[in-house]
Amino acid sequence: MPASSLKIGMIGLGVVGTGVAKLLFEQQERLAKKAGRPLELTKIAVRDPSKPRDINIPDSIITSHWEDVVNDPSLDVVVELAGGTTWTKKAILDSLASGKHIVTANKALLATHGKEVFDCARKYNRCVAFEASVAGGIPIIGALTQGLAANKIIGLRGILNGTCNFILTSMSETGDSYQNALEEAQKLGFAEADPTMDVDGTDTAHKLAILVQIAFGQTVPFSAIDRVGIAGLNNIDIHFAHELGYGIKLLAEAWINDGKLAVHVSPVLLRMHSPLAQVRGAYNAIQVIGDAVGDTLHYGLGAGRMPTASSVVADIIDIAVGRAQNTFTSMNLWSDSSSVTPMLLSDDVNSRYYLRLLVEDKPGVLADVTRLLANHQISIASIIQHEAQGENANGKVQLVIMTHLSKCGKFKAAAKELTRLDCVSGSAVHYPVED
Ligand code: HSE
Repeated sequence: MPASSLKIGMIGLGVVGTGVAKLLFEQQERLAKKAGRPLELTKIAVRDPSKPRDINIPDSIITSHWEDVVNDPSLDVVVELAGGTTWTKKAILDSLASGKHIVTANKALLATHGKEVFDCARKYNRCVAFEASVAGGIPIIGALTQGLAANKIIGLRGILNGTCNFILTSMSETGDSYQNALEEAQKLGFAEADPTMDVDGTDTAHKLAILVQIAFGQTVPFSAIDRVGIAGLNNIDIHFAHELGYGIKLLAEAWINDGKLAVHVSPVLLRMHSPLAQVRGAYNAIQVIGDAVGDTLHYGLGAGRMPTASSVVADIIDIAVGRAQNTFTSMNLWSDSSSVTPMLLSDDVNSRYYLRLLVEDKPGVLADVTRLLANHQISIASIIQHEAQGENANGKVQLVIMTHLSKCGKFKAAAKELTRLDCVSGSAVHYPVED
């Protein structure tokens, strides 16, 4: 007897949704072979049914009400690709309650309401698969839950936002302005509906919260993730970083330090030749260090239609085969048995720093700045000050200082004091440096 098909409903038909529909309609035979049964997309809820789309979908399966998907008793799986944390949370909880498995790319929902969603799935004996929620097409969730399962994870760090990496690459390689690069990323379908979430580090922090849950078994309250985005990043800092032999990347990091868990999202100066500094455009990469495996690097397109659809459809296949249900049960994520490693306060994190100040070009200024740093026990590794050129000089000059290791709290206090010096204009710009 032929195996019965897996009936799929989908909520959302945007960039990723159309990619998923394309794969399910155009690769039926290939996917059925891998899933051991046909995968049938039978209902799709969209906000605007009349919106032109570059894919042919029968009108009969389109609805403008998400409830039609949630309440359809014939469906086995609901794929949620609408994003957001309000009505989509209800749609997911109601779908689980009515016996459907969930596939979602909704990192914001998992990062902020993971326990509620996973508890609900456990209650109704269903599963939630979420490979597409982190790093688009890179199978990092599968790597952490399965391939690296034998390891105690010591640390991970990654480029997790394609939009930010695209912007940083454009600014760095073509001298493009921040605004132009962002608009291009939006056109290419990498950015979130509200790109503020990309550029202020929120999207990266959502993804980091999910990775920390899997890698360290710990629920970190979203508010506990210190985050700085790239919205204020200036081309001048990219130039100085290059001059010093570094690139600037928006990094998400989590690591165990003396028995404490440290997490943060920040632009970081990375040695130009390091693998993460070489990641260009909308690509993402995650470095995971395990006690048995050592250093691993996971690389691929982190945003966009087909790469993210690849992860969504992989989850659908896993459900059709029955693997996702087993992994869901054995991982027991966002549960009461989550670990409670104490958090390392961001002030106590040790790092080198890049510091840029706009200072008056007159006697004693360098002495004032270095004295203040010395008073805070911050040691200087190198200094750049270029000769001011012609009319543009304005009596002011950029001063760039690379420090040796310092506690973050101590460094930030010094940077704040520096801005109060008469010879310093505006605020101090600073980023951590990793060698
Ligand atoms: N806006 C996200 C990014 C999409 O640019 O990485 C993938 O989550």
